[in-house]
Amino acid sequence: MSNTAKVFVPADTTARSLGADNVAAAMAAEAQSRGAAVELVRNGSRGLYWLEPLVEVAVGDTRMAYGPVEPKNVAGLFDASFLTGGKHPLALGPTEQIPYLAKQTRLTFARVGIVDPLSVDDYRAHGGYRGLANAIQMSGEDVVATVTNAGLRGRGGAAFPTGIKWKTVLTAPAEQKYVVCNADEGDSGTFADRMIMESDPFVLIEGMTIAGLAVGATRGFVYIRCEYPQAIRTMRAAVERAVAADLLGEDIMGCGRSFHLEIREAAGAYICGEETSLLESLEGKRGMIRYRPPLPAIKGLFAKPTIVNNVISLASVPIILDKGADFYKNYGTGRSRGTLTVQLAGNIKQGGLVEIGFGPPLRDLLYDFGGGSATGRPIRAVQAGGPLGAYVHPSQFDTPLDYEQFAAVGAMIGHGGLVVFDDTVDMGEQARFAMEFCAIESCGKCTPCRIGAVRGVEVIDRIRNGVNESSNLELLRELCDTMVSGSLCALGGMAPFPVLSVLNHFPEDLKARA
Ligand SMILES: Cc1cc2nc3c(=O)[nH]c(=O)nc-3n(C[C@H](O)[C@H](O)[C@H](O)COP(=O)(O)O)c2cc1C
Ligand code: SF4
Repeated sequence: MSNTAKVFVPADTTARSLGADNVAAAMAAEAQSRGAAVELVRNGSRGLYWLEPLVEVAVGDTRMAYGPVEPKNVAGLFDASFLTGGKHPLALGPTEQIPYLAKQTRLTFARVGIVDPLSVDDYRAHGGYRGLANAIQMSGEDVVATVTNAGLRGRGGAAFPTGIKWKTVLTAPAEQKYVVCNADEGDSGTFADRMIMESDPFVLIEGMTIAGLAVGATRGFVYIRCEYPQAIRTMRAAVERAVAADLLGEDIMGCGRSFHLEIREAAGAYICGEETSLLESLEGKRGMIRYRPPLPAIKGLFAKPTIVNNVISLASVPIILDKGADFYKNYGTGRSRGTLTVQLAGNIKQGGLVEIGFGPPLRDLLYDFGGGSATGRPIRAVQAGGPLGAYVHPSQFDTPLDYEQFAAVGAMIGHGGLVVFDDTVDMGEQARFAMEFCAIESCGKCTPCRIGAVRGVEVIDRIRNGVNESSNLELLRELCDTMVSGSLCALGGMAPFPVLSVLNHFPEDLKARA
C-alpha cells in the first residue's frame, strides 16, 4: 500500500472564486517543505458551497473533510496530522456523513466532487460508461422506451417528457439528425449545469452519445453559456479524451457507429437559452425565436430533426441506462419521477446543490438544508424557477417539490433554482425588475413582449409614485393578461408571473412609496 496521501482541493469555479487555487498551492508547498508524500487532486465541488474551499483527504476508503480552508490554515492542518484524518477546528468528519450531503440522493451527481473530472479511468472506475455499453446492445426504440419509462422530464424548464421528444426525432425520416445540449444556464440562482460540466463532464458526454446512437444522430453540439469559460475548457478537454479512448467519434466502443461532439460558446443573451433561439444562434444567426410548429424535433438545427435537451436531462440518462427505468422512477412523486437538482441561492445560510427525489416540501429545502436566511432574518419570499418564476409566499412553503403541485399554486420548479429573500426585500422593486428584465432580454419579435414589458415598467413606476394607483393596478393586471396570452414564447408569456405573484401575495409592497 502506498504511503502517499490523496488530498482533494476542488477546482470548480465557485471554489476557485473562494480561494481554492491558493489553498492548493499552499498545500503543495507545505507538503514539499515537510517532505510529505501528497497527491493533490483537483476534484469538483461537493456542492456545499458555504464550506468552500472544502479540502478532503482519503483515509482508507473514507474521505475526511476540512473547511472552509484558507491558505493560513494549511500549516496547522499538517501539524494536526490531517493527512490521516487528525482533529482540527476545521474538521467536518467524514464528508459523506455531513447531514447536508447524507440527506441527499445523488444519482445524476453521483460522481461530482468524487472523481478527477478529466480522468476517463476514474469515471469508468465509478460506474461511468456502463449505460452506454448497455445502450449499444439495445435497439434505438428500446433505449427511447427506457428513457420514457423512467419518467424523465426535461430539467431545463418546461418539464417535457424526454423520451417522447426522443421518439419524435427517432421516427422522423432524415439523412442527418442532431443532438443539442442546452448549457446556456441563464436562470437566476442556477449552477447545476456548470457543476456537471466542470466536475463530471463525461456523464454529459455519455448521455449525449446514448441519445445520438438511439435516435440515429451522428453529430451533437453543447451550447455553453459564454460566462462559463472553465466549463467550456473542461468540456473541450473531456471531448478530446473521450475521442482518444474510443468513447466518442468514430466506431464508439467498437460498435461501428459514430457520434461527433462539438463545444460551442453561447452568444450571451438570456433568450438564447430558449431552444429555437439557441438553434438560430448555433447556426450563426442572431438569437431570435422561431415560430412553432414545426418543432425542433422535426425541423431543428439546419432544418434537421434535433433533440434539444438541458444538461441535467442528458446527464441523468447514463444512470437510467445503467440501472434501468424502474430504478430511476422509483424515486419521486406523482408525475415527477427521479431526482431534482435544487440550487439554493440568494439570501440563504447554506447555499449549494441539493439532489433529492421529488416530493419533499419547499420548506425542507429552505430550512433543513439551507438553514434559513444568511442574515438570520425571516424568509419573506423565494423566487423559484428563474427570473420568469413566481415569488413563493411563506404560506406556500409546504408545497411539495413536484411539477404539478408547484403549478397548482401558480409557481414553477423550472431548472430548480431557488433564490431566497429575507423580510427586508422590496417586492414592488422585484415586480418592476421582472418587467425590466423582460424589456432588456426581449428578442423583439412580438409586440406583447417587446412593447408590453417597457409599458410594464412604466405602469409599475406610476403605481409606486402614487399616480392613479388603483386604475394603474388594474391596467397592470390587464397588461399581464395580454402578455401571457399574446406572447410568442415563454419570455414574454411568463415574465408577468413574478409580477402577478407580487400583486396577489405581497400587495402591500406594490403601492405608492411613502
Ligand atoms: C427565455 C427562455 C430561456 C430559457 N433558457 C434555458 C436555459 O438557459 N437552459 C435550458 O436548458 N433551457 C432553457 N429554456 C428552455 C428551453 O427552451 C427548452 O425547453 C429546453 O432546453 C429543453 O430541454 P429539456 O427538455 O431537457 O428541459 C429557456 C426557455 C425560455 C423561454
Ligand atoms: S415573447 Fe419576447 S422573446 Fe419571445 S418571441 Fe416575443 S419578443 Fe421575442
